[in-house]
Amino acid sequence: MVGLHELDNFCYQLRTGTGDGMSESWDDYAEGWDSNSDAITFAAQAYRSLIDLIDISGLRILDFGCGTGLLTERMALDADRVVALDSSAKMISVLNDKGLENVETIDEILSEKLIYGNSFLYPKFDLVVASSVCAFLPEYENTLLLLKSLLKTNVILVQWDWLKSDQDSTVGFTRESINLAFAKSGIEVVAIKESFSILSNGNSMKVVMAAGKNP
Ligand SMILES: C[S@@+](CC[C@H](N)C(=O)[O-])C[C@H]1O[C@@H](n2cnc3c(N)ncnc32)[C@H](O)[C@@H]1O
Repeated sequence: MVGLHELDNFCYQLRTGTGDGMSESWDDYAEGWDSNSDAITFAAQAYRSLIDLIDISGLRILDFGCGTGLLTERMALDADRVVALDSSAKMISVLNDKGLENVETIDEILSEKLIYGNSFLYPKFDLVVASSVCAFLPEYENTLLLLKSLLKTNVILVQWDWLKSDQDSTVGFTRESINLAFAKSGIEVVAIKESFSILSNGNSMKVVMAAGKNP
């Protein structure tokens, strides 16, 4: 089972290209992801905060960076459809094996080319979620622009990430950094707040939930 600090380390490796041989990609985490208690708790808490914020009944939702679908499978119970996208083919393979009827999957990196070429990404979505994904992206602001382009107007995108409390931390965001990125991407802030905490190996890590509207 991979702990939060291993993920932190992994993120650092992704950003700096300094892998230590422990892991080549997210594929390496796919098999154990659904038994990772931190991942399960994160998805459960993200889901709870989502349904406190918005009624997802009947919505067409994009779960960006869905992993093995820990959040997808919860949302699929109420949503009309969930399109679950992840760049890790092995994560998507675990999700596909769950055989969820109203879930379509895409194992690709999100790009303009993909948006124009993949029919699952059309029509535009009623909601986009990204649970513990954005802090791992090399180009967060560019990705926000792509995600915004997939949203209907006046609907929201919600992300959950580690709340960065000090500048030494390698992973996560401050409220200000999300605010700035939303502003640069033309996303109107609905809420940016500490949402829940995850206790892992005796450390409590805060999670920020940010919701922004495509105006
Ligand atoms: C920490 S995991 C979270 C998985 C899932 N959202 C969850 O909460 O269980 C991060 C996921 O983001 C995916 N990911 C990272 N960069 C991506 C990108 N550019 N496009 C799509 N998925 C990406 C990884 O493959 C990985 O499955």
